[in-house]
Amino acid sequence: MVFLLDELSIIAGAAFVAAGYEESYGRVLRSSRPDLCEFQCNGAMAAAKAAHKNPLEIAEDIGGRLKGSSVFSEVAVVKPGFLNLRLDGDFLLSRLSLMVEDENLGLVKARDRRKVMVDYGGPNVAKPLHIGHLRAAIIGESVKRLGKALGHEMIGDIHMGDWGLQMGLIIAELKRRNPSLPYFQDGGGDYPAHAPFTLSELEEIYPTASARSKEDASFKAEAMEATKALQQGHEGYRAIWRQIMDISVADLKKNYERLNVSFELWKGESDADPYIAPLVQRLKDEGYAHESQGALVVDIAEEDDVKEIPPCMILKSDGAALYTTTDLATLVERVQDFNPERIIYVADKRQSLHFTQVFRTAKKTDIVPEETRLDFLGFGTMNGKDGKPFKTREGGIMRLSDLIDDVVALMYQKIRNNEALSLSEEEAREIAEMVAVSAIKYGDLSNQASKDYVFDIDKFTSFEGNTGPYILYTIVRIKSIIRKYKEKFKTVEGCAFHGVGSGDEKSLMLLLASFDQVISEAFENLAPHRVCAYIYELANAFNHFYHETKIIAEEDREKREGWIALLLLILRVLEKSIDILGMEAPERM
Ligand code: ARG
Repeated sequence: MVFLLDELSIIAGAAFVAAGYEESYGRVLRSSRPDLCEFQCNGAMAAAKAAHKNPLEIAEDIGGRLKGSSVFSEVAVVKPGFLNLRLDGDFLLSRLSLMVEDENLGLVKARDRRKVMVDYGGPNVAKPLHIGHLRAAIIGESVKRLGKALGHEMIGDIHMGDWGLQMGLIIAELKRRNPSLPYFQDGGGDYPAHAPFTLSELEEIYPTASARSKEDASFKAEAMEATKALQQGHEGYRAIWRQIMDISVADLKKNYERLNVSFELWKGESDADPYIAPLVQRLKDEGYAHESQGALVVDIAEEDDVKEIPPCMILKSDGAALYTTTDLATLVERVQDFNPERIIYVADKRQSLHFTQVFRTAKKTDIVPEETRLDFLGFGTMNGKDGKPFKTREGGIMRLSDLIDDVVALMYQKIRNNEALSLSEEEAREIAEMVAVSAIKYGDLSNQASKDYVFDIDKFTSFEGNTGPYILYTIVRIKSIIRKYKEKFKTVEGCAFHGVGSGDEKSLMLLLASFDQVISEAFENLAPHRVCAYIYELANAFNHFYHETKIIAEEDREKREGWIALLLLILRVLEKSIDILGMEAPERM
């Protein structure tokens, strides 16, 4: 099924061709004046300009031709040359029926299935997850689910920061505290099966070590030495590194699971390490890299750059690899293992220059094929109400799990306050968790990713307005109507559209019919906020319709069943949409 707007454009385009003009003038758009019409075509104006004719005459000519089509119920020609269109009810219903019959709601268009990797998350191992990583997780997961919903093969890679100085710092600190551990003895080989530290100890070790390194230069030197030894394969350090990884990854998994975020690949910067040396060698051999002030760099400036793009550094003057080198080496690995058609990186927008450098170098030096699409989706900062980066009340860095706990506690209170629900303790907790996670995720995703936004817990958890809980509440409401309908009429089976009915009903149907295009464009533009805007509009339209319509009490059976068919489709679209956003709805709330 092609998009509705495309189908309408093809019909209008054919009318232009038949009248002797170019097909492209037939572009049909959603109306900017829904009070006047549902769709509009403004092509007569452009056609008139090109043909030096009167636009109104052309519009009348085209309008006359379109009136014969069974697709439009109304074609109005408006000065100076607009075509205002309304859709034929049966045509609309036939499109909706196709959507109902398709388990993917018309989203999967088989012709353009792609293999796409999404690099998101990017937590730094052994440091607690903080809210800076919240956005990467929420946005990246949604981008991945958008692609999946459209039928693409999506591979999410967490790309952990697991190889840098923080590992050396932890190792040096452990050695300082307990030099007799076998990891630090020569000869080694026989290491304990379990780590000599717990997760909470680990979480204390890193900040302590980091603070120490700032005051004590010789400790810092030791940490750097340990980092280098680890990277060069020191057996004891590798053993301890694996144990740090085991403990940290288990904890990361728990945190991400709570957010409904999961990864196909749990790779990290360390996995790129074996690819670095051969890559550097090749870049030298093939003359891409040259020395500049002791460092090894690749020039990537392009003629039409408006801003200066500095060369991409591959090795520092001391021979150490950098963040950029790691990302390039990771690309070597990704092309070798998956050869994806597109890779999307989701990270803080302040890393924009880094990714420009990585992408240009990768293309210039043939690390990725020319046609591979590399995208950077840079997100803005999550601020507190004071407009500054979000902090704890004490001014420290907020841990992600604490933030979620706070929102869950608030949600729990709200749910408990509604005594009519009569929930068990367990149910209340479960629902609070679900709604709280949605409040956080929707609060983030409803903003354009690149913009900074204010984390406003009161606004995000409100059941009214453009919020996650409002969307979930609408879903719960529809489910409850359907439950009541089933109690009274046994089954929803056999409920089918009966006609288009009122204007409100038609608005809802038109919105439903644009679902495939909304999702497709949201993915194309890496813009989950468009999904939010769409479901907010849909939820509003439904709630408006609901207030005007007695559904279950309706005597006319055909009407009643038609509305249930409509509700069932709205429910499927909303549920699919929140799934794409990585949210879940409870049965009651
Ligand atoms: N670990 C990095 C950070 O915390 C983010 C990684 C983003 N992904 C990448 N391929 N560089 O800043």
